[in-house]
Amino acid sequence: MKKTVKDCDLKGKRVLLRADYNVPMDQEGNITEYMRIEESIPTLKYILGQGASIIILTHLGRPKGKRVPSMSTRPLVNALKKYLDCDVFFAEDLLSNETKALCDGLKPGQVVVGENVRFYPEEEANDDDFAKRLASLGDVYVNEAFSVDHRSHASTVGIPKYLPGYMGLLLEKEIHALNKVLEDPERPLAAIIGGAKISDKIKILSKLLPIVDKLFIGGGMANTFLAAQGHDMQSSLVEEDKIAMAKEILEGEYAKKIFLPIDVMAAAAFDNAAEHKAVSLDGVPKDWQVLDIGPETMSFFEQELVSVKTILWNGPMGVFEMSNFAEGTKAVAKAVAASPAYSVVGGGDSSAAIRSVGMEDGIDHISTGGGASLKFLEGKVLPGIAACCD
Ligand code: 3PG
Repeated sequence: MKKTVKDCDLKGKRVLLRADYNVPMDQEGNITEYMRIEESIPTLKYILGQGASIIILTHLGRPKGKRVPSMSTRPLVNALKKYLDCDVFFAEDLLSNETKALCDGLKPGQVVVGENVRFYPEEEANDDDFAKRLASLGDVYVNEAFSVDHRSHASTVGIPKYLPGYMGLLLEKEIHALNKVLEDPERPLAAIIGGAKISDKIKILSKLLPIVDKLFIGGGMANTFLAAQGHDMQSSLVEEDKIAMAKEILEGEYAKKIFLPIDVMAAAAFDNAAEHKAVSLDGVPKDWQVLDIGPETMSFFEQELVSVKTILWNGPMGVFEMSNFAEGTKAVAKAVAASPAYSVVGGGDSSAAIRSVGMEDGIDHISTGGGASLKFLEGKVLPGIAACCD
């Protein structure tokens, strides 16, 4: 078990904290979604309450090593001031003498927000000298950025070579929730896996099939399974090279655990405005494509979820970004949220679906990590977590 921020004497220390404030912003640079900021506030308050100061490092978007003004982290300063009610300064150049002086002179209870760490090509290259210079800004390092812990970057694995690294409270919560599902679930345990492609999720399917009691499959990847069962998916996204693998899974030792759609929402084109209707698995009109699960599947999945005690959901049931094909994902969101089962939701679309139906309170843990939660569920050791102190 890795040490958390609560295992460190923080009094008088400057805490270099890697957060993930990769938050959506509108064209004027206004933050439009605060979840990632809000989730980190308990950790920030805890650290400040211990008599420490904080230097925050985060990325925002993918500027690829260049200064991109629309991806500046400057708007975070005012947002954090509102939540923390303390001095929050901005460090425009992470490597300048001014920034070093600002961090050296920080008083307990003060906060610095660093400019987007991905403005520096050395970040993603995990440049050792860059990591060392960032490390010189603080006394201890806290990793609160689960969603980038699958990446070996200077701010995730480089800095803790030079400073003792501790897990933040949110990171600890993420690990606890995912481990509870993987290692100690109350049964029956159900997993709902969606998304476009089997190839993206095959490792998770292989990891989950032996441990779950029920596995629901939706999204584009269900098409390949349905094609493997012999249904004509017409122009739907089907991974031809994965049909044999899907068949093997459907005929394998875990076959009885698998729940596939029993009807689908088909459309004349990949377009929200396209003609569309719910059809049976063998009724997809010629040249149409399947873009969501159908209403019978929604009720079927809902009923099958009633008796389970733990639910893990990752990935949309259809093309969630198009309103006409978001119903399946929303129905699953409602069913998961309404269920008394312990529920963990990961992945951007599934989390957005929960929020779009306003049922966040019905979920025990909504993961802040998309790619990272996938890797974790595949059973991988995430390098950012591995870099924290044992
Ligand atoms: C995310 O939004 O999923 C995280 O911030 C990670 O972003 P990245 O995929 O650009 O590393």
